Amino acid sequence: MDAMTLLHERSSMGKLMAPAPDAEQLEAIYRAALRAPDHKELRPWRFIEFSGEGRERLGELFAEAEYREDPQVGDTALNAARKKPLRAPMVIAVVAKVAPEVPKVPKMEQVISAGCAAHAILLAAHAQGLGAMWRSGKYAFDPVVRKGLGLDDDDELIAFIYLGTLGGRHKPIPEHEIGGFVERWR
Ligand SMILES: Cc1cc2nc3c(=O)[nH]c(=O)nc-3n(C[C@H](O)[C@H](O)[C@H](O)COP(=O)(O)O)c2cc1C
Repeated sequence: MDAMTLLHERSSMGKLMAPAPDAEQLEAIYRAALRAPDHKELRPWRFIEFSGEGRERLGELFAEAEYREDPQVGDTALNAARKKPLRAPMVIAVVAKVAPEVPKVPKMEQVISAGCAAHAILLAAHAQGLGAMWRSGKYAFDPVVRKGLGLDDDDELIAFIYLGTLGGRHKPIPEHEIGGFVERWR
């Protein structure tokens, strides 16, 4: 797939099945992520990869987050939380590893850089014929999950990227009127 086709046609895939990306595919994915634009080369990224039973440990954190939010929560909701990371054979949490108070590189820039790394993961997955979907949801902001994943106070958990083999067809790519988004000063 050529680069412009990839940029124009990348699409998310929520239906994902085994197998997970193999070692070679993952290396290509992380190499792409590490090419994200990065002011002052801070490398403000951390990737936590969950596969196999690692996904169950993540699901346990999601269930703990539900319990913290509502100690009366029932088993149905707890089990639903536990199962969320099992929707794909692999989940990569993308953390913006923020270095506070770096001159000229405020937190926002570092978070954007991590967002670019997350986008690169999606692109590299798509380019290799894999399926990927960026999810956040309330767990990305939950203190129990943040603590369980070892985030520092300034860090942001910006993505849970679900990855795997395509389990369905890509939805049609929406047509957008470019002129509606672009202002030209000439
Ligand atoms: C920061 C961020 C968080 C997102 N979180 C969710 C989410 O929690 N659940 C969800 O269904 N889609 C989420 N999305 C949107 C999907 O990843 C996807 O982009 C959207 O469904 C549009 O599909 P497309 O990527 O094929 O255009 C999120 C996207 C971004 C950028």
